Amino acid sequence: MRQAPHMTSIQKLKSNFSLVQDLIDTEAKKSAATVWGRTSEFWEGIFSERSNFPSMVDFLAFRRGDFGYGMADERQGELAREEEHARRTSEIFRQTVDPRRIGELDESSLGAPFVFENFGALRSAAFWTNATTAIRIRDLVQRHHASPANTLSVLEIGAGWGCVSDLLHQLLEIGSYTIIDLPENLFLSTNYVAATRDVRLVPLRITGPKIQSIAPGSLAFGLPGCLPVIDHKYDVIINSFSLQEMDLATVKGYFSWIADILAPGGIFLSFNSHGKAGVLKPSDYPLSGFRIRELGMFRVYPSGLLNTIPYEMVLSAAPDDAGCDENTLDVLGCLMQFGLGDDLKDICASFVAGDIDKDTQSALNDLGGFFSSSRSDRAKALTKRAEQMLPAITSYLRAMDAFAAGEMAAAKIAFSEALRLRLSGFAKLRACAHMAIIDRRKELALWDEDFHALFAYPELKRILEASDGGPFKLQFEKIVSVNLRS
Ligand SMILES: C[S@@+](CC[C@H](N)C(=O)[O-])C[C@H]1O[C@@H](n2cnc3c(N)ncnc32)[C@H](O)[C@@H]1O
Repeated sequence: MRQAPHMTSIQKLKSNFSLVQDLIDTEAKKSAATVWGRTSEFWEGIFSERSNFPSMVDFLAFRRGDFGYGMADERQGELAREEEHARRTSEIFRQTVDPRRIGELDESSLGAPFVFENFGALRSAAFWTNATTAIRIRDLVQRHHASPANTLSVLEIGAGWGCVSDLLHQLLEIGSYTIIDLPENLFLSTNYVAATRDVRLVPLRITGPKIQSIAPGSLAFGLPGCLPVIDHKYDVIINSFSLQEMDLATVKGYFSWIADILAPGGIFLSFNSHGKAGVLKPSDYPLSGFRIRELGMFRVYPSGLLNTIPYEMVLSAAPDDAGCDENTLDVLGCLMQFGLGDDLKDICASFVAGDIDKDTQSALNDLGGFFSSSRSDRAKALTKRAEQMLPAITSYLRAMDAFAAGEMAAAKIAFSEALRLRLSGFAKLRACAHMAIIDRRKELALWDEDFHALFAYPELKRILEASDGGPFKLQFEKIVSVNLRS
């Protein structure tokens, strides 16, 4: 375990604070006027509901305040609830990552986090969330970067309060690390990582000279408006749960810049969904100039029952590439919103290899029509061909469609069929939950996995207690309303 360096002194924190604050004071306005630097309505809302720019006194305990709101570090109100929240979070994330790997990573005491012992690791809930992300990044870098053992130059766009960055310093051979973010969160992440890691702060100024290279050992930080001054090439570029919360023009701006800034052999990891802000469907991510190396549902189970589900895309630069098959990408990304991860694994692998067999491809084309607000279009999409090639998935879609229309007998038959055909992972849990609502049961009678889902998702417990199908119906309507074929 690479521990955090000894606790940073107040004097050091103070000098870091001044450096970051000075950059923000002088550049925030200019950055906000650029396409990358504008704050989306989504983030305007979050910033207005929480405290920003902690004083030194507040920063020392910032993880007990509301500064991490919107970034998976949300306060629960009282100690007992914090403890339960941490237990629930670890129960969800141990399904995706071996808890021993979480325990091998260290958490800084800076910010005074609420830590509790779960599965042998004394860590905060937010640490479990971020460690799962960082471990996944590490594994994908090992698999897809041309030379993962070399020291890597890493760029993170939208680093939250800095936890993934801190963790990647423990998991990878970091040469230099760059953080680009909006002022409110740049302030948190840069000060956090500068305090927890042995790095030298390098401000990236919009009006400064071009930055040809960022020296090893640096933590470079800048507001989005500084992108044009960066000439340095990156081995790994990361964006987790952040492009999905930006305006579409901003997303497009980032993608075209990233294509130019990847070093040879470098990769761009995007863990994002659609339907939250500017990106309405998967193919809104502008992928021409990139090759998709890997696609899949990020995490086996999401942190909230009704959350949008991010898909992980590993991208490398392919300047002559005409882009991917957008229709198929759309269908796969939309199917993932229903928790279909495991069930799509092989298809996703064939998709990125460009060798989906003809019949499966035709079945996927048909299923694209299911993502429509029109019930008759959805019925037409569930073709014989789709049924033959993707029986569990087609039964599951038919079941949810019937459930949303209140046709509970038909829904029950189709959910049973999907389960019999071995629907798996989160889709299986959702199917069991729908069945429990239909049968007016308060327990998940058909759920037989080593995952205490009713404890992990209190919203599910409430739904079953009230036999209330409303939240699932609403979510269904929202997911299909992407209207892929119109
Ligand atoms: C939900 S947080 C995710 C934080 C972190 N990546 C994680 O995995 O938890 C979204 C992040 O995107 C950042 N962000 C939003 N709009 C941005 C923009 N235009 N440019 C850069 N970062 C942005 C937010 O400030 C925040 O740090």
